Amino acid sequence: MKNKRIVILGMQWGDEGKGKIVDLLTKFVNYVVRFQGGHNAGHSIVLNNKKTILHMIPSGILNKNVICIITNGVVLYPCNFIKEINILKKQGILIKNRLFLSESIPLLLEYHIAIDKAREKFCGSKSIGTTGRGIGPSYEDKIARRCLRIGDLKDVNYFQNHVKENLDFYNFQLINFYKEKKVEYSAVINELHKYREYLLSLVIDVHSTLHKIIKKKKNIIFEGAQGSLLDIDHGTYPYVTSSNSTIGSVFSGTGIGFSAINYILGIVKSYSTRVGNGPFPTEQFGTIADSICKIGNEFGSTTGRKRRIGWLDLVLVKYAVQLNSLNGICLTKLDVLDTLKLINVCIGYKHIKTGKKIYNIPCTINDWKNIVPIYKKFLGWNKSTFGITEWNLLPDAAKDYIKYIEKILKVPVVIISTGPAREDTVFINKNF
Ligand code: IMP
Repeated sequence: MKNKRIVILGMQWGDEGKGKIVDLLTKFVNYVVRFQGGHNAGHSIVLNNKKTILHMIPSGILNKNVICIITNGVVLYPCNFIKEINILKKQGILIKNRLFLSESIPLLLEYHIAIDKAREKFCGSKSIGTTGRGIGPSYEDKIARRCLRIGDLKDVNYFQNHVKENLDFYNFQLINFYKEKKVEYSAVINELHKYREYLLSLVIDVHSTLHKIIKKKKNIIFEGAQGSLLDIDHGTYPYVTSSNSTIGSVFSGTGIGFSAINYILGIVKSYSTRVGNGPFPTEQFGTIADSICKIGNEFGSTTGRKRRIGWLDLVLVKYAVQLNSLNGICLTKLDVLDTLKLINVCIGYKHIKTGKKIYNIPCTINDWKNIVPIYKKFLGWNKSTFGITEWNLLPDAAKDYIKYIEKILKVPVVIISTGPAREDTVFINKNF
């Protein structure tokens, strides 16, 4: 592999298994770039039988030959970031000269977390079901042009005053509107003083670095977080995250242009899951959902919440494929379906009042409430695919399932994941 710049994006509501795929492909690349989201993400990677969950640091850090860069599109919570570095260091992973930051990264601070939690509590049954990590409020700060960025930490007076102004604004809401406790100035400032020098020591000129390495034809992975259906513009609004989790954020979130990318890989889980609230037409309850949840270990890696489970929804995935102009698909967690007698795949929706068939995604929450899925049924393969590494060894029924997905999505499946470890993978096209 040479001169490859691959973007890896989730095609559903996150948790598609991106972390493993990024980790797997890092042996072919020199750099991994994280360009959007914050510590709401949770990328689980299994290495030497040990599970590591990364929230902020690109999964590429586990490969000693890879350099990781976090860019302006991300929001960074210093306390969590440093904690993650320390966990990695304890595991013997070298961080020095391998992890760099843009100075334009907005800082996520205690008051964002307090507001996120207060709002969710206040909204009760209408809550989004956020990760409670302050992601929404910190992106709001960025758009409102009042956020503190890493570069601002160079000037002590400036950032101290800035925090004070922001804190007045947030504490006013916390106390008067949400009737919650205020966030103490000293808590925020002490944290910033504690981490300031270290954070600044990781800063590089991301813009010129990226342009230099692209010119040198280095291989780069741009590692997406969350999934396309959680995108603030194109997802299942308002039950979405507060950043763009589709292809456009690679460009706005890093400062490179469209032609710098030459492959877009979409990660699709063989069924659907979502954490948090919001529309989920193919959602299942009872034995099937419980079984998939257990076998697939479908518990949020950031919040530990049990994920909601449903059948693969090809209307939604096709929409995500189009949103991102995908070149190829990696299908994950195929083995989780091994024991099912019957597997459903959603291929359209029916309007419950008019009976009309619908093949595109609804817009408003009311529209979502008025549709039911139309399924195509597949016989299960009832054989273990766990750890299979060759296409020819897959059961015929599993091959049919995959070929059907390809046919509907009109994009080749280039990788199939058959277990959590790096080795549990079928490469259909090694040169994708
Ligand atoms: P927020 O990003 O914490 O504001 O949460 C908004 C919605 O996105 C909630 O439904 C979260 O559960 C969901 N979400 C955020 N990050 C992830 C992720 O990495 N995987 C899956 N869902 C996520």
